[in-house]
Parts: sequence; structure tokens; C-alpha cells
Amino acid sequence: MKRLAVFVSGGGTNLQRIAEYFAPNPEVEIACVVSNNKEAYANQRAKNLGIPLLSVDKAYFTSDLFVERMKSLDIDLIVLAGFLWLIPQNLIDAFPNKIINIHPALLPKYGGKGFYGHHVHEAVVAAHEKESGITIHYVNEKYDSGDIIFQKTVALSPSDTPDDVAAKIHVLEQENFPVVIERLLFDKK
Ligand code: GAR
Repeated sequence: MKRLAVFVSGGGTNLQRIAEYFAPNPEVEIACVVSNNKEAYANQRAKNLGIPLLSVDKAYFTSDLFVERMKSLDIDLIVLAGFLWLIPQNLIDAFPNKIINIHPALLPKYGGKGFYGHHVHEAVVAAHEKESGITIHYVNEKYDSGDIIFQKTVALSPSDTPDDVAAKIHVLEQENFPVVIERLLFDKK
């Protein structure tokens, strides 16, 4: 049995997709959803999906107690799915190469502090980029700078608005994120 922890801050469409993708697979379980945002719709999704929800504040999230909690859940992979806090060093040390993030752009472009969600798509459109995409990467102590695992690009047209780009990125995330997670869990090529 492989056990995931999914960290969320927002709408939770990636959480939903990951849960539905693995639902028929008895080998994979989402052991918990960790949320840093009491208002996040992802919290409701976790409840609807029957996944234990752990709400965290900054003090608990950065404490060794939180690391112990994750260890006690026997987590194989921590998945950041729209989670907006920096991951503290103690958690990185406890889960080496076992924390991944999805970013809605082609890193290293449009990454770093402040580049999240819609801000990314607005910057991409303002720069008249001809393409954007998604990046799935290992998490280190800096925003969006760990080793890249997977990227997929999508063509943009000059008339695309930030909302149009977001919709294209959403499709890429839904198609690819669970498959990459599965590959990492089972070491498939
Ligand atoms: C996703 O597009 C994800 O790539 C992005 O936030 C969105 C979360 O959507 N992540 C970042 O911007 C991280 N810097 P969701 O809550 O509906 O899954």
C-alpha cells in the first residue's frame, strides 16, 4: 500500500482529480489532506471524499510535531497541490525526494515567491509568451527551484486571456499530475 499526503491551500481541483484517479486502485490511499487555509474549498472536497483533513497554522506546520505526525502516518509521497507555504527544512530532511509540487508554468520561468495561481497566467500573457505549461518538481527549501521531474507545454494564441491560459493549464494538470504521481510511487518508466 502506498500512502499519499496532499497539501492544499485553495480550490482543490488537483486533489479531486488525484483522489478520483486512484480510487479504483487498492494499492494507493490518500492518508490525509493538509490545509493551511480554513476557507479553502479543498477542505470541503476532502470531507466529501472521506479523506481525513488536518488544518495547520504556521506554528504547528513548522514544528517537529508536524513532522512526527507525517511520519506516524507512514507517508510515501507528499504532494503539494496548490499549497502556498514554503516547506520547512525539518520536513524536507524527514522526507528526502519525497515531496513534490506542481507549478502552473514552465519553470524556471514564472516561478518564485508571489508566482502562484492566476498571478502566473497574468505574467505569461503580459510577456506575450507563445507557450506555457506545467512543471512537476521535487521540493527544496526555496520556492519552485527543486529538480524538475516532468514538464508539458501548451501553445498559446495571441488572443488568450489569463483565464484562457488557466483553462489550458488546468487540462494539463488533470491529465498529467496523477500519472506522474503513480510513476513516482511505483518507479515506472
Ligand atoms: C494549480 O494550478 C497549481 O498548479 C497552482 O495552484 C493551482 C491550484 O489549483 N500552484 C501554484 O501556483 C504553486 N506555486 P487547485 O487548488 O484547484 O488544485
